[in-house]
Amino acid sequence: MCGIIAYIGPRQAYPVLIKGLHRLEYRGYDSAGICLVNQHLDIYKCKGKVSDLEKFVADKDTSGTIGMAHTRWATHGEPNQINAHPHISQNQKLAIIHNGIIENYASLRSELINRGYKFKSDTDTEVLVHLIEDIQTQEKLDLEESVRIALNQVIGAYAIVILSEDHPDKIIVARKGSPMVIGIGKDEFFVASDATPIIEYTNNVVYLNDEEIAVLERNKELKIKTIKNKIETPYIQKLEMSLSAIEKGGFDHFMLKEIYEQPRSVRDCMRGRINMEKGIVHLGGIREYEQKLLNAKRIIITACGTSWHAGLVGEYLFEELTRIPVEVEYSSEFRYRNPVLYEDDVVIAISQSGETADTLAAIDLAKSKGATVLGICNVVGSSIARATHAGVYTHAGPEIGVASTKAFTAQVVTLTLMSLQIGHLKGTITRSRYHQILTELDTIPEKIERTLRMNEKIKEIAGIYKDVKNFLYLGRGYNFPIALEGALKLKEISYIHAEGYPAAEMKHGPIALIDEQMPVVVIATKKGTYEKVISNIQEVKARKGKIIAIINEGDVTVKQLADHCIEIPETEEMLVPLIATIPLQLLSYHIAVMRHCNVDQPRNLAKSVTVE
Ligand code: F6R
Repeated sequence: MCGIIAYIGPRQAYPVLIKGLHRLEYRGYDSAGICLVNQHLDIYKCKGKVSDLEKFVADKDTSGTIGMAHTRWATHGEPNQINAHPHISQNQKLAIIHNGIIENYASLRSELINRGYKFKSDTDTEVLVHLIEDIQTQEKLDLEESVRIALNQVIGAYAIVILSEDHPDKIIVARKGSPMVIGIGKDEFFVASDATPIIEYTNNVVYLNDEEIAVLERNKELKIKTIKNKIETPYIQKLEMSLSAIEKGGFDHFMLKEIYEQPRSVRDCMRGRINMEKGIVHLGGIREYEQKLLNAKRIIITACGTSWHAGLVGEYLFEELTRIPVEVEYSSEFRYRNPVLYEDDVVIAISQSGETADTLAAIDLAKSKGATVLGICNVVGSSIARATHAGVYTHAGPEIGVASTKAFTAQVVTLTLMSLQIGHLKGTITRSRYHQILTELDTIPEKIERTLRMNEKIKEIAGIYKDVKNFLYLGRGYNFPIALEGALKLKEISYIHAEGYPAAEMKHGPIALIDEQMPVVVIATKKGTYEKVISNIQEVKARKGKIIAIINEGDVTVKQLADHCIEIPETEEMLVPLIATIPLQLLSYHIAVMRHCNVDQPRNLAKSVTVE
């Protein structure tokens, strides 16, 4: 949530900052602002998107070789110009941009008001800039030290950048709980919430750790110390991301590009992990923890949103293949409900961004109770990847569209590999079954490609139902989480109300909703509870509901019943989610486009949810 970018070096800062904001806009897009340091702090900010900021500054002086910019996802204070970042200190000499939440802002604010500070905004951020000024002036300390002391008084999460009129060659950066990456170029530094705006300039980066403060000065080495005043040596890492991975590459939207990338991202997730000749799975990241998984009395999967849906598929996979009982928990519930946890529990935290605040808190809780915590993350070096004992990266590549697509399928592939391997080592599946599933897994990228060929048909169906008010999604077994995921995709990008249900639960309530206006998407693939799902379809038809069925190629039975059918290739029942989710992603995409919704940046959402 909220995107941060800053630059110091020989280039003009403005183009770097604006381009960076565009790349980070998926993190928040309700207001944006910029600060350039010349004689004074030149601050421009406005409500709306980065393009609105560009229009706003079109006739302003944007020269300068040091600056910072912010794109906001509102937490405290409505999205408007005053609440947009940067925020400025009372003496007009310091400016700050911030991602995170200062939890004790109310008490700090009233103390500062008593000391004569006047607040312009409703944000928690403004407190911090006044606090730093107050420490600087009261205690006659230099800027770095004042920032350090201020941060020791703050409870909550922050990634901040500070610029000072008195120090036109210096940027101060700090983080706790919100991500921050520093790019190191030749005589220049870049700072950003993630690596996407940095990659085109340098692939040498330092990921700031929690409670670290970095000082970036012109023609000087990067300096890092902790808020406890301990000097740290910067650990420079090489980024392995390519620029093309973060561009649209001819697609109208990132979401569509990412849907179409799935044959590749699924393949990348398996690459180097399956040795077909030897018939083994190798997950290097958790190798040392295999024994823990083998001995686990229970697995608890914790995640949010789409990643939670992947976790549900994981529950079915682990229980079927390893016979270890699994519980799937929303991180936000888990962290606050004092769950029973044992040292022989293995907790698996799933997160695309690796920054979701609730999942991070769930990990901390599980660790504090002695459980082993493994991560499944997409973003390399992210907070969750670092907070867990060990983990597996999904290698789906950067996911920019706010609605998660390719990250989901990669999470499911990762869970499949993990559960297969543990089942194999435990002997809860036979060697031949293990081989059979691995061989089938290898065909999934090609089957996704075949499914993507249904795009035109799906678009046609989207055109018919784009104006309805409600949708129901039904599935059973492995397809139940896919029904939930299909419904989430539709509501988040098209703003149509949608609900996912286990098909058999329909008669316990939702059936009352069905009439001739109600489209019901049913995942009716063969195997498992196919016949039962056919009965559920008949129940919907009897009440005049419209059926959009996801069926296997050549299925004539459901074709006779359904109003529309989308055919997908047959596969192992446990691998169906990897294919069945594709038409649902495309359906929601086309409906959203036809409703003129901003597919990549749906209202009120942000890509990484770093607040609870
Ligand atoms: C939905 C979506 C969200 C995320 C959720 C968790 O399309 O993207 O529901 O899945 O916010 O995010 P991560 O996986 O980054 O922890």
